[in-house]
Amino acid sequence: MKRISWEEYTNLRVSDRIPYLSKPNTDNEPFHVLYSQQFTREMLDHLCALADKIRALHKTERGGDLLRSTLRNKNALNLFAQPSTRTFMSFLMAEQKLGMEVVDIRDVSTSSQAKGESLQNSIRTFSSYVDAIIMRHPDAGAAELAAYEMNMADRRIPVLNGGSGRDQHPTQALLDIYTLTKSLGEIDGKKIAMVGDLLRGRTVRSLSYLMKNYEDVELYYVAPERLRMADDVKDFLKRSHIRYTESENLEAVVSIVDAVYMTRIQWEWDRAAGAKSPDAGEYDPRFVFRKEYLDRMKKRSCLLHPLPKINEIDPELDYSDDPRVVYWRQERNGMWARAALLARIFDVDRTIMDSDDD
Ligand code: CP
Repeated sequence: MKRISWEEYTNLRVSDRIPYLSKPNTDNEPFHVLYSQQFTREMLDHLCALADKIRALHKTERGGDLLRSTLRNKNALNLFAQPSTRTFMSFLMAEQKLGMEVVDIRDVSTSSQAKGESLQNSIRTFSSYVDAIIMRHPDAGAAELAAYEMNMADRRIPVLNGGSGRDQHPTQALLDIYTLTKSLGEIDGKKIAMVGDLLRGRTVRSLSYLMKNYEDVELYYVAPERLRMADDVKDFLKRSHIRYTESENLEAVVSIVDAVYMTRIQWEWDRAAGAKSPDAGEYDPRFVFRKEYLDRMKKRSCLLHPLPKINEIDPELDYSDDPRVVYWRQERNGMWARAALLARIFDVDRTIMDSDDD
């Protein structure tokens, strides 16, 4: 791959950056994972099947031993410069299930970045000690800068984006696809509502991009006017011939769609911009999933949320035994989906799929 400057690289469209994020001599098989646009349908189907297999193997002693042997000579850094519960925990558990040794940095003020070291030099240093970096960062381009640095370095290790600014959260989108597939049987032909803070929510952005891999999907964006989905995603949907509608009426769509994907209003962005109190939208009942909405949903449908949630789902549903309420299963699925991704990146997926220890 030709070396290009950071400026040249960042002038490329995302589709033209993908070769720089891929394993050499492959058909753009992800090495670094930064954008959900890197995933093809074939990869998504494979990763879902692999996640199922890992889950099944984990249930037996021999299967668990086999999994732990696959990456026991590898180690990972979980570099989380922004708060996280489930992405951090599920990556940690996924890494351990595959036998990796893991170190973490959750407070960059304890690293030499506090002395003024650049992100690039810090990443270069981390790469001296570990075989992969999983990274969450408040800045949209930080994981990409880390991946670029690794491409320039002689020890190129993968960088996985665990959430970058308002931009993307590709591994969340992967576990969302896994959950939708398990809940609905298939995603082709399905109607999916995404509700809440669509402007600042990176999960809904990444998931929207993945819809290009499925036939005849229709999206229903339900958001307060000021928090509607951004134009770059909507332009992508138009170019990809994916139908979408926009409204402020969750109640009207719950009976139409196959999946409702709730998100919270991300008040922290308003606070960072100097707002003194939550916008009225945070408590707007039009964007709250009420318990009775479940009665109106299709028999085979599902209610998702990437979590954390605040008040946008009736808390009684937390204890519902209705199989359509899947958000707790969804967060557990993150562990299996992320284990599948790590196994694929490190080329141990065939060993896992071929095992009969489940
Ligand atoms: N869904 C998600 O990214 O959750 P965390 O912020 O807890 O990692």
